[in-house]
Amino acid sequence: MELKTEEELAVMRRAGRVVAALLKVMEKEARPGVTTKRLDEIAEAFIRSRKAEPAFKGYYGYPASICASVNEEVVHGIPSNRALNDGDIVGVDVGVKLEGWFSDAARTFAIGKVDEESRRLIDVTREAMNRGIAEAVEGKRLSDISWAVQSYAEANGFSVVRQYVGHGIGRNLHEEPQVPNYGKPNQGPKLVTGMTLAIEPMLNAGAYEVETLKDGWTVVTKDGKRSGHFEQTIFVGNTKPEIVTE
Ligand code: MF3
Ligand code: CO
Repeated sequence: MELKTEEELAVMRRAGRVVAALLKVMEKEARPGVTTKRLDEIAEAFIRSRKAEPAFKGYYGYPASICASVNEEVVHGIPSNRALNDGDIVGVDVGVKLEGWFSDAARTFAIGKVDEESRRLIDVTREAMNRGIAEAVEGKRLSDISWAVQSYAEANGFSVVRQYVGHGIGRNLHEEPQVPNYGKPNQGPKLVTGMTLAIEPMLNAGAYEVETLKDGWTVVTKDGKRSGHFEQTIFVGNTKPEIVTE
């Protein structure tokens, strides 16, 4: 994998700020009654107003600027005329390209008042991601991230999706290495500064198995139970990681 220079990191930081600001807007707009298509329109306008491009639109033919994954949808939900309802959870995933450099992040939002298990699923997924991110320092190895995510998720009674993983990011949305959210510690490449990663656990309330709907994109849990997803773009650090999409 290509290590990034300080100049390159500076552009990636700016791309990250666009994503972070957009996710703030998404959090405010994700309310009962709003359609996921409306969220997508708002997102695309926001991205272009910042002189950036939506990273997902056209990626392997993906038709929108965000992914909006509701309840049992895990990732890659296509925005539609479906309105969000009180009690739903929605994972909103956005990526942008700015001056040739990518940034990618996701949050799961509660719509109105959600049940206790959904609340916990959201909180545990966010914390699992943060524990993974905390491992992204020089001298650790890649699977220390994976193990930190998996051990926290499973200790809290949730399962970790195997079929989709985090990734390197930079001049491309997806670069080496893959960053699994499961696995034993102290395996894989040593982490060094200049590595830039998207860390993105997907946790399920039930079993970890997933399948893809006939639209070719929407990934859902096999058992129909809910799923949470958080993602940040981060730089591996000397003593602590730098999160650029917060
Ligand atoms: N954050 C997701 C990922 O890293 C979003 C990709 S959606 C796609 O895979 F449309 F771009 F494929
Ligand atoms: Co990603």
